[in-house]
Amino acid sequence: MAMNLGELNRVACAMVQKGKGILAADESSGTIKKRFDKIGVDSTEENRRDYREMLFRSADGMKHISGVILYDETIRQKAKDGTPLVKLIEKAGAIPGIKVDKGTKPLPFSKDETITEGLDGLRERLSEYHGLSARFAKWRATYTPTQGRPSYNCISANGHALARYAALCQDENIVPIVEPEVLMDFDNSIDDCEAVTEWVLKETFAQLYYANVALEGMVLKPNMVISGMKAEKRAGVEEVAERTVKVLKRCVPSAVPGIAFLSGGQSDEEATAHLNAMNAAHPDLPWALTFSYGRALQAAPQKAWSGKADNVPAAQRAFAHRAAMNGLASKGGWKSDLEKQAA
Ligand code: 13P
Repeated sequence: MAMNLGELNRVACAMVQKGKGILAADESSGTIKKRFDKIGVDSTEENRRDYREMLFRSADGMKHISGVILYDETIRQKAKDGTPLVKLIEKAGAIPGIKVDKGTKPLPFSKDETITEGLDGLRERLSEYHGLSARFAKWRATYTPTQGRPSYNCISANGHALARYAALCQDENIVPIVEPEVLMDFDNSIDDCEAVTEWVLKETFAQLYYANVALEGMVLKPNMVISGMKAEKRAGVEEVAERTVKVLKRCVPSAVPGIAFLSGGQSDEEATAHLNAMNAAHPDLPWALTFSYGRALQAAPQKAWSGKADNVPAAQRAFAHRAAMNGLASKGGWKSDLEKQAA
């Protein structure tokens, strides 16, 4: 199949259209078990299906969702009534996507660093996923901004893997979400996050260039420039927004249609406020800025659901609320009062 850049660009632009963002529902079996443990739900295939079916059937929530990232199990699953889950997503006006990396593994000879695996056999898997309706994919690499880390070895090896993945995606007519994530679980300052994010993005775009990736047919999914969760003094909303935009301007070519942030452990409202502040202060950026949130979209509905069918309407309301708030933030139109009204 020859690459169709016009089609890749059309899909990438649809993924980052104003007022909408991406639902990252691609938790691996291990991660979704962690989330379910928190709400006292067994992580069975049926419970995972029921939970995700509930999200995809939330018409009010899906109004603000342009694409959904799925895990291998979910892209093959059927709703209770036999409808494939991908059909529910398409019916709701969103594009199905698929996580294709095989997770982070220890990077040899480099304490506390990881390399993302999953390149072997990737072309064949992408081709199968295209047949299962996936029109975009995701690959996540992680970097630690603390104690002299990351190493250049980590940045370059992960950048190379991201670029090889992205090139394979485009060759199979799938839009790659390129996700280099500087982690925020530590006590590092926002200065450290800024310096590491800039280095990681510069190297990632160099590798994308060497691999002949067409920037018009991809979406970047970065972290925000933010203080570590355990930092003594954490930067406020305006500072996070300004520093994030500054680094993106330095590193992301304007040929990229859009940037969809991960939430990375920020609270729901923090993730919304940060995105909103960037869009409110910078209406004329060369790329769209939107969300590709996992936890910041799902923590509230998971809590409201807690595995009980009776709680489905409340959980769908919680999902719709967060999706609507983030949809507004993608246009710079969110206000904190809107959160209080809903509470
Ligand atoms: P979070 O928004 O929970 O960080 O998840 C997004 C994601 O897809 C991480 O790979």
